[in-house]
Amino acid sequence: MKDIHVVVLAAGEGTRMVSRIPKALHPLAGRPILSYVLATAFQLKPKGVVVVCGQDERVKAAVLEEHAKAKNLSFARQAKPLGTAHALACCRKELSKAGMVLVIAGDVPLISRDTLEEFLACHMREHNKATCLSARLANPAGYGRIVRGPTNVFLKIVEEKDASLREIQIHEVNSGIYLFDKSALLVALSHVRPDNAKKEYYLTDVLEIMRTQGHHIDAWLAPNSEEILGINTRIDLARAESVLQRWTLDALMPYSHLRPGTRLAERAKVGNFTEIKEAAIGEDSKVPHLSYVGDADVGARCNIGCGTITCNYDGVRKNRTIIESDTFVGSNVNLIAPLRIGKNSLVAAGSTITRDVPPNTLAIARSFQIHKKRNFSPSPN
Ligand code: UD1
Ligand code: MG
Repeated sequence: MKDIHVVVLAAGEGTRMVSRIPKALHPLAGRPILSYVLATAFQLKPKGVVVVCGQDERVKAAVLEEHAKAKNLSFARQAKPLGTAHALACCRKELSKAGMVLVIAGDVPLISRDTLEEFLACHMREHNKATCLSARLANPAGYGRIVRGPTNVFLKIVEEKDASLREIQIHEVNSGIYLFDKSALLVALSHVRPDNAKKEYYLTDVLEIMRTQGHHIDAWLAPNSEEILGINTRIDLARAESVLQRWTLDALMPYSHLRPGTRLAERAKVGNFTEIKEAAIGEDSKVPHLSYVGDADVGARCNIGCGTITCNYDGVRKNRTIIESDTFVGSNVNLIAPLRIGKNSLVAAGSTITRDVPPNTLAIARSFQIHKKRNFSPSPN
């Protein structure tokens, strides 16, 4: 992609995690936090990805293990964690050929490629020298606040520890993700001083410095504020995990409608455009597509063909359909309940089944195909 280099900051000590494991390597839904950020960074197809690591060799080793073949990957070393601006200044050499620099804090794992692409498009459209990715949070505690002037113009980022009572009330926060023009960035970085509550070199100060140097800078609001969740504590980690679980579940249910009373056994499959209601689907059974299974008990290892429906409602009562194990129901079958299909049966495609089917039986309930002579010749064209 474009002329862009990504810098991922992962040299902090992560003291708030209270752990011997470096923060970047704490597992989030089974994968290290940093691994999410890097995967998204590589999806942007940048010219280079620079990971800033600290003293702990495990971070670099984990990144190398996952991205051993990435030719555009390099590392910078921050010997002492003196702050986010200092971390970025440690990769001057790696950025020597860079034009635009996307900086991502290594502890913001839920940021998506789509959001980053929109962010990038805004940065370029507005011809900014720096853009900060911001979000509006109901509870902004712990984040740097975006301070804007009377006409909503971006002024600066203030860290919570350094904020006035008025600034603390601000709900627009800094995500820790920024886009910079490299030349302007390097000049501004050399002006950062550690004159703040934590005595650190804050990257957030760079934006105000650039503004006072006359550069056009702004903050762009992320459409989905959940994506900017930063992980500083184990509580943050648990929160991120629950967001990720919800997203994963949402993704697993595209177009499947699992209504109340649905019970899916191990390895049961419910596919697209399928509705299940008050029904149990047994182990290894499949309802792969375009079906309605309501008020039913489906045994183990059954296949319910595409377009099959249980006709459970007779206008007065809801009636049950029982499909015993190892039964194969072909496509486009109407099962008129109440009904029991015995185990190991086969129901032919296109059947309308109105009576119970005994076990080990082939049931066909459709008119037979007949062939008649066609007394018609198609027109020549
Ligand atoms: C930072 C921002 C804050 C923002 C928040 C978003 C600063 C000063 N503050 O705060 O405005 O709202 O992220 O999550 O930047 N790191 C280094 N070297 C260092 C210090 C940090 O590489 O010397 C790395 C950390 O490993 C981490 C990232 O930079 O991945 C952010 O550092 P962290 O200490 O988590 O900053 P926050 O307090 O979260
Ligand atoms: Mg953080």
